[in-house]
Amino acid sequence: MARCCELLAVLLCFLLMLSWCEALSSNVDDGYGHEDGSFESDSLIKLNNEDILRLKSSDDDTVNVLNFGAKGDGKTDDTQAFKKAWKKACSTNGVTNFFVPKGKTFLLKSTRFKGPCKSLRNFQIRGTLSASTKRSDYKDKNHWLLLEDVNNLSVDGGSTGIINGNGKIWWQNSCKIDKSKPCTTAPTALTLYNLKNLNVKNLRVKNAQQIQISIEKCNNVVVSNVVITAPGDSPNTDGIHITNTQNIRVSKSDIGTGDDCISIEDGTQNLQIYDLTCGPGHGISIGSLGDDNSKSYVSGINVDGAKFSGSDNGVRIKTYQGGSGTAKNIKFQNIRMENVKNPIIIDQNYCDKDTCEEQESAVQVKNVLYKNISGTSATNVAITFNCSEKYPCQEIVLENVNIKGGSASCKNVNVNERGTVSPKCS
Ligand SMILES: *[C@@H]1O[C@H](CO)[C@@H](O)[C@H](O)[C@H]1NC(C)=O
Ligand SMILES: *[C@@H]1O[C@H](CO)[C@@H](O)[C@H](O)[C@H]1NC(C)=O
Ligand SMILES: *[C@@H]1O[C@H](CO)[C@@H](O)[C@H](O)[C@H]1NC(C)=O
Repeated sequence: MARCCELLAVLLCFLLMLSWCEALSSNVDDGYGHEDGSFESDSLIKLNNEDILRLKSSDDDTVNVLNFGAKGDGKTDDTQAFKKAWKKACSTNGVTNFFVPKGKTFLLKSTRFKGPCKSLRNFQIRGTLSASTKRSDYKDKNHWLLLEDVNNLSVDGGSTGIINGNGKIWWQNSCKIDKSKPCTTAPTALTLYNLKNLNVKNLRVKNAQQIQISIEKCNNVVVSNVVITAPGDSPNTDGIHITNTQNIRVSKSDIGTGDDCISIEDGTQNLQIYDLTCGPGHGISIGSLGDDNSKSYVSGINVDGAKFSGSDNGVRIKTYQGGSGTAKNIKFQNIRMENVKNPIIIDQNYCDKDTCEEQESAVQVKNVLYKNISGTSATNVAITFNCSEKYPCQEIVLENVNIKGGSASCKNVNVNERGTVSPKCS
């Protein structure tokens, strides 16, 4: 054993020296402007570093929170241990994994995991992250777990990882539940902010304080095999909230929650949703857009393959009066609705405040296709197009839509009906 270590040390020294020499020679080369030479040297150095890494014991690149003092007994506050582990994982060279082991529950206050990092590649959650139920433990009232400014990261629950917001205390104090309480915000369980090339997979998120997963200002995002749950009456617990994000795919996910299964807000472009199960919840919602006279742009949304059961809405677009901008190039196809209150709805007169005054301007809704949608409505209106008078909905197509149990209510819209459509606007 000792001899083996000696050998390893000698080998490491040798490799280090080699890369040092290469670095020197590359600097010299640079000085003479030999671009080709310096390129070769750089790649050699890289190789050597990788070799050195490979020689280290196999778990050297895994930063396990247990090695930084985390207890994982569900009672001890593990926030500081996670912060230390994060600091280490984020500053380590060479492919690094932040690791939360299986079979343990880690109690956490509001915690910020901030990059940029050297080369952190995986945030592996195998155990349970459990939110503090003391509201004073949230220095940041808007976020519980905030992951920001890291590129090329995979957040992987390995199918055992759970993020539990323990949101009951927040729900009880919500003005939507207790009318005597003032309306305040509660933390989002998991916020993914300013991440490029993000992969979120095999993860369960439940009982968030408010929004379950919020994806903000990201680019190139793949979300798959995510299960999100909360009681149907938990207030404002959107499943996945997306804003200011481009190029995102959500697939094979199952969301049952108290608000929108997926809410799509301003600045979302090129979003693909495949194989989604939603219910209970408020469905897939584009908006609300245009609140407080704001300008909103959403485009390139494709929902292909979804099942809604017992949800308040199926596929919804909602905008406030007085806003501007556009929601366009939207496809909802191959969708099954079971017992859904508003299976198909565009509402350009949306208002969830006490009063919203009548205003002329509106976010333009344009080029929306509903194709191969079938099932049952839980109310006597299956299709609602309540569009703006000054900015009527444009290029709305219903193709092979068959929803039983309700009629269609269509205002300020010309619907192009193809194939078999029931109920019909006309
Ligand atoms: C992330 O990955 C891309 C492409 O895979 C690569 O070009 C880029 O250098 C990586 N960024 C970081 C910070 O490692
Ligand atoms: C219509 O959608 C259902 C899912 O609701 C799917 O099973 C079926 O294959 C689709 N039909 C066509 C013709 O694409
Ligand atoms: C459209 O929305 C307005 C404002 O909410 C409402 O008063 C009206 O009844 C709705 N019309 C239809 C046809 O749903």
